[in-house]
Amino acid sequence: MISVSPLAGNVGAVISGVDLGRDLNESTVAEIRKVWLDHGVVFLREQNLTPDQFVAFARSIGELDRYPFVPGIEGYPDIIAVTKLPHETVNFGGIWHSDTAYLDEPPMATTLLAREVPPYGGDTMFANQYAAYEALSPSMQELLAPLRGVNSSALADVSKTREDRIAEADGSSGGEVRNFEAIHPVVRTHPETGRKALYVNVAHTARFDGMTDDESRPLLQYLFAHQVRPEFTCRFQWAPGSLALWDNRCVQHNPINDYQGYKRVMHRITLKGDRPV
Ligand code: SIN
Repeated sequence: MISVSPLAGNVGAVISGVDLGRDLNESTVAEIRKVWLDHGVVFLREQNLTPDQFVAFARSIGELDRYPFVPGIEGYPDIIAVTKLPHETVNFGGIWHSDTAYLDEPPMATTLLAREVPPYGGDTMFANQYAAYEALSPSMQELLAPLRGVNSSALADVSKTREDRIAEADGSSGGEVRNFEAIHPVVRTHPETGRKALYVNVAHTARFDGMTDDESRPLLQYLFAHQVRPEFTCRFQWAPGSLALWDNRCVQHNPINDYQGYKRVMHRITLKGDRPV
């Protein structure tokens, strides 16, 4: 018997009454999946899963995907460590984004399991992109309907957030990597719920397809500010064993970098998605 407590008015719910290490059966997974589709991101506390149990949970939701820039932890190529060490100043993914929107088929979902957290800070924020789209005027929705965004992995603000992890993995400076680019609709239709969601993000969307950066900037800047308005967001405070599962097709996230001098370690698995339409 699971119970569900919404975390905010538009996004996020905490699920309790489930031990994912023990209760991973078809009906529990179906319930979690339903709550996840309704709320965009779900959180479960005190899930101190082994890597095998974490992989089994991820597999119960979807097909495992691989992150292109950082290798997996030893023995588990599908789990990456999202780490910030006490002397580091930049946190991985520390900007509003939807995961790897620069791939042709970005991941449907991401699941994150907290292993070590700072004594304070290090929360993650989430923003509902259905609500952001639905709050736009009908005229703005019509203007956006035919537009497509050019999404790049190379924009400076996000590239710098992965450099420490790439350097740790291959001993390089972390700056020289392959870049990816993908063109996706600015408004996508969720393949499971049928709802429309804004699908640009400040970390990856460089311009509108067929327009210059200068031409695109004013409208993009407006959308970047609009889509993370406080009323579309929730904020989650982690403890070791907290687990999140978010839907990259309709939710963005932003891990907050406010715990300088402390270590934070999360394990992350992404799940395969399809080409946004
Ligand atoms: C990420 O963008 O996957 C990292 C999220 C977090 O560290 O909270």
